[in-house]
Amino acid sequence: MDYFTRTKIRSIIVEDRIKPGERPIILGWVRTARVSKNVAFVEVNDGSCVGNIQGVVNNPESIPNIEKITTGSSVRMVGKLIESPAKGQKYEISVEEIELIGEADQTYVLQKKRHGFEFLREIAHLRPRTNTFGAVNRIRSKLAYAVHKFYQERGFYYIHTPIITASDCEGAGQLFRVTTLDMNNPPRVDGKINYSEDFFSSEAYLTVSGQLEGELLATAIGDIYTFGPTFRAENSNTPRHAAEFWMIEPEMAFCELPESMQLAEDFLKFIFEYALTECSDDMDFFAARIDNTVRDTLEKVIKSEFVRITYTEAVSILEKSGRKFEFPVSWGSDLQSEHERYLTEEYFKGPAIVYDYPRSIKAFYMRVNDDGRTVRAMDVLVPKIGEIIGGSEREHRHDVLVERIKECGLNLDNYGWYLDIRKYGTVPHAGFGLGFDRTLMYVTGMANIRDVAPFPRVPRWAKF
Ligand code: 4AD
Ligand code: MG
Repeated sequence: MDYFTRTKIRSIIVEDRIKPGERPIILGWVRTARVSKNVAFVEVNDGSCVGNIQGVVNNPESIPNIEKITTGSSVRMVGKLIESPAKGQKYEISVEEIELIGEADQTYVLQKKRHGFEFLREIAHLRPRTNTFGAVNRIRSKLAYAVHKFYQERGFYYIHTPIITASDCEGAGQLFRVTTLDMNNPPRVDGKINYSEDFFSSEAYLTVSGQLEGELLATAIGDIYTFGPTFRAENSNTPRHAAEFWMIEPEMAFCELPESMQLAEDFLKFIFEYALTECSDDMDFFAARIDNTVRDTLEKVIKSEFVRITYTEAVSILEKSGRKFEFPVSWGSDLQSEHERYLTEEYFKGPAIVYDYPRSIKAFYMRVNDDGRTVRAMDVLVPKIGEIIGGSEREHRHDVLVERIKECGLNLDNYGWYLDIRKYGTVPHAGFGLGFDRTLMYVTGMANIRDVAPFPRVPRWAKF
């Protein structure tokens, strides 16, 4: 088979690299086929772009298995590229050969009509064949590349932090346990499960963040970033929370909070710009079919200067807003999504970075401010989503960190390795985490995090 010499439909209809008269070999899946006695029209999509190419077959009766060339089947199609007389498409293929590769029987569920996203989640194996999920998966790939491009061009090193870990980075107890013990009959000592008999001779979990390990690398080789899956057993059934999501976590040594804020702002703008310029055909699709404000939203963020305000200022703005929030605001309580959205959508009408949060609501590793009440945390908030980035300057003073670990009720014995970098040449350092899936929601206008991941994992759902 001449699979290697095929032409992607993208290079015909998006990139305009194939000229009329050329004879491309198209390999793809049939979207629709209309066969009559003298002519057949077969629309093929190969996933390289949202558009299809139509093949016109003038001698359908001479084609073996033509009746099996139906929606969902795979075909190889060769013919001359010609300007199309039909409306809505520039080119079509005057088919010389068309061959069935794999048939799709009557149970193929995807039809030309639009399907609901909830229904499609049930058939995650066929979902990527739809226009929407083709576009989502293509843009996911492109933006993953953009993440690497951004950091690599700035001299950051990409670090693979462990997926299986013994420590709870966020100290929030949202850990999935990793074990090979027999759950029906676990070994016990003094009535408790004896994890020293487990695979790792200790308790182990799926990581909630690569940050702590990332800090070890940053305080050795300088600027680093991680980009990998993270897991949270957080029972939040919202459109913005997933149990498995990808996170990008840069960490910079010899760095304080303002520099890290600037990196966060530059990073988001870079990603959004990349989506607009390098993924413009898929962005056209999202603008037309998912959310017609999506381009405008991104352009506004790119042009804006992110406001920087302290948590204390933010609380004061919210208190003076005269708004009745579902969760009342007062100094010391965490900002809720409704508060974050008020600040960005109504008050600032653009992104805002809120920093210096109360120490009592933030993770143990954040640098304590001189006031003793707040820590050098920052959250980047954007209209529509609220928090998209969370980060901080890290507590690099050994003794203060020991106090914080105890204050947060964590077991000091688990953090010796983390404290060590504060004992040997400690330096101010800072970083943050960007949720990749939330970023994709923002870029595409997709309203549910379940619909930007090829295989979403959320409470009560780990199918496929
Ligand atoms: O604010 P978070 O919890 O910060 C951290 O994990 C730090 N260790 C980051 C760092 O400083 N290196 O999470 C960071 C981001 C959030 O702003 C959000 O975008 C995303 O990760 N996120 C989630 N995305 C989807 N589903 C969830 N359950 C998420 N939890 C956090
Ligand atoms: Mg956070």
